[in-house]
Amino acid sequence: MNTSTPHTAVISPVLKVTDLCKHFGGVKAIDGIDLEVLPGEILGIIGPNGAGKTALINTITGFYRATSGHIHLGDTEITHRPMHHIGRMGVGRTFQNIRLFKRMSVLENVLVAFKVFTEHPWRSIWPGQHRREVMEKAMHWLSLLQLADKANQSAASLSYGDARRLEIVRALAGSPKLLLLDEPAAGMNDSETQQLIHDVQKIRAHVGAVMLIEHDMNLIRQLSDRILAMDYGKKIAQGSPEIVLKHPEVLRAYLGIESEGDQP
Ligand SMILES: Nc1ncnc2c1ncn2[C@@H]1O[C@H](COP(=O)(O)OP(=O)(O)OP(=O)(O)O)[C@@H](O)[C@H]1O
Ligand SMILES: [Mg+2]
Repeated sequence: MNTSTPHTAVISPVLKVTDLCKHFGGVKAIDGIDLEVLPGEILGIIGPNGAGKTALINTITGFYRATSGHIHLGDTEITHRPMHHIGRMGVGRTFQNIRLFKRMSVLENVLVAFKVFTEHPWRSIWPGQHRREVMEKAMHWLSLLQLADKANQSAASLSYGDARRLEIVRALAGSPKLLLLDEPAAGMNDSETQQLIHDVQKIRAHVGAVMLIEHDMNLIRQLSDRILAMDYGKKIAQGSPEIVLKHPEVLRAYLGIESEGDQP
């Protein structure tokens, strides 16, 4: 029985994943993953191509149905809930490949994203007061990521870095408790990546917690409070960036080397 006192108060995780599996026939994309994301935390997820990182986000968000295991958002079990319920419960995500409505304006892309989080997504237009609130919120998120002055441009006209940032704004639309970013720096040049690091640092104050998948180790090192490393659907290391990025299993999985001393 839990007899915790104020001195031993336990912090409840924003997300708790227990013994999660997602199999596709014989392919074990996720194979018994346990993890927690704590309030205010950025949890970095790393692993070589095919390790199961995107499958993990897809299963948490209900895009894939878990084969077994449990996913809790706060106190609520969300395993097997439909994707739109999970979105409305406060889980925002970006995709590894940019998914914008290119013929719409930057602002319209954000307004459409609000519909994912709304209780009545079938309504074509919001009543007066609510509409104003939504517009203000959309402009607030666009300003936070330096896109406000591009609100009326078409999404197709954005630079690659701006398009990636608009993806993040769309994920922020519902003020998520949990934000899941799948390789937000993919394809970015050095200065765009540096800007992204700065942006994610700003965002963390506005969302409950962040799970960040990345191959860019500089970005992962700078942003993550903790890192979980995966390979073949399993956890191979977990802990502080200093420990995980030097972990022999991580070096082996990423670089194919047996120990730190063998590094080129
Ligand atoms: N819808 C699917 N159907 C069948 N197999 C899938 C599906 N989605 C993922 N997989 C398989 O699951 C494994 C993990 O894939 P996943 O996309 O999660 O890897 P990843 O870690 O995100 O890799 P990357 O770094 O290349 O994005 C791979 O073997 C992949 O082929
Ligand atoms: Mg992936």
